Amino acid sequence: MEKILQEAILHGQKYTHNGNPASYIPELQKVNSSDLGVYIRTLDGKEYGVGSYQQKFTIQSISKVLVLTLALMDNGFDKVFGKVGVEATGDPFNSIVRLELKHLQKPLNPMINAGAIATTSLILGKGGNEQIERILDFAKLVSDNPHISINEDVYHSEVQTGDRNRSLAYFMKSTGVIEEDVESLIQVYFKQCSIEMNCQDLARIGALYSNNGICLKTGKEIIPKSICRTVMAIMTTCGLYDASGEFAVNVGIPAKSGVGGGILAAVPNKIGIGVYGPALDDKGNSIGGIEILSYLSDVLDLSIF
Ligand code: DON
Repeated sequence: MEKILQEAILHGQKYTHNGNPASYIPELQKVNSSDLGVYIRTLDGKEYGVGSYQQKFTIQSISKVLVLTLALMDNGFDKVFGKVGVEATGDPFNSIVRLELKHLQKPLNPMINAGAIATTSLILGKGGNEQIERILDFAKLVSDNPHISINEDVYHSEVQTGDRNRSLAYFMKSTGVIEEDVESLIQVYFKQCSIEMNCQDLARIGALYSNNGICLKTGKEIIPKSICRTVMAIMTTCGLYDASGEFAVNVGIPAKSGVGGGILAAVPNKIGIGVYGPALDDKGNSIGGIEILSYLSDVLDLSIF
């Protein structure tokens, strides 16, 4: 398996020079853009890592998977999907355009920024501090890593540059999708995006979803199966934004990207995969990371289709 992972990294390396780290959050530029890492956890508990798999990065939009899961566990399907839809957009992740269409009072899905901010507003807790504590505790639980923390520099960088997200949130407050205080909510969103992990953490999270929410170590249910399947379905249709269709065709694995360069992938009933490569394509997805997953999907026959 290590040899296959090594080959996957070599394949991904052919593409990293075609991408760039995210620059709209200035702190995210402080990376080595040729870094690539991959980690795999099989459902029988075996783990393999190659390349920069120990390098920490902020999970950014990958947090949307965790927050959607927690929101569903907190509120149930009807309440969450009363606020946010489950349809793919074909638009960039930070797009505002469809929010004003009359028949679309709610954001189209929980993986775009608008939908994610609406989902975050549903996390139970007395105020923003308790909400982010619960999200962080959940991140520790699903990654089986009690040391997960928030990168304060990236968080402050997001606070300084996050006006598009603020505008999405204020717009949704005006239409009634968001009911709570926007400034407090947006801080929670910036902090969840600034949670730091490595490929190993992502692979363990992926393996948990692959295993229908049952902890591989203890056999206990951490996430209900119905929620895992729903979240993996939304990852498949919306996880890479307006590249989700192409990714489904070329790779065929439920996955979620983040502009920090990470991709979380969960092959149902098989394996969890975490990849890292901070050079992004023009849609904000890790360019080398997608290639690594494409290579692994071919060689290990991982496509769900
Ligand atoms: O809100 C933002 O724009 C970032 N904190 C997260 C966006 C992101 O990760 C998009 N993913 N590829």
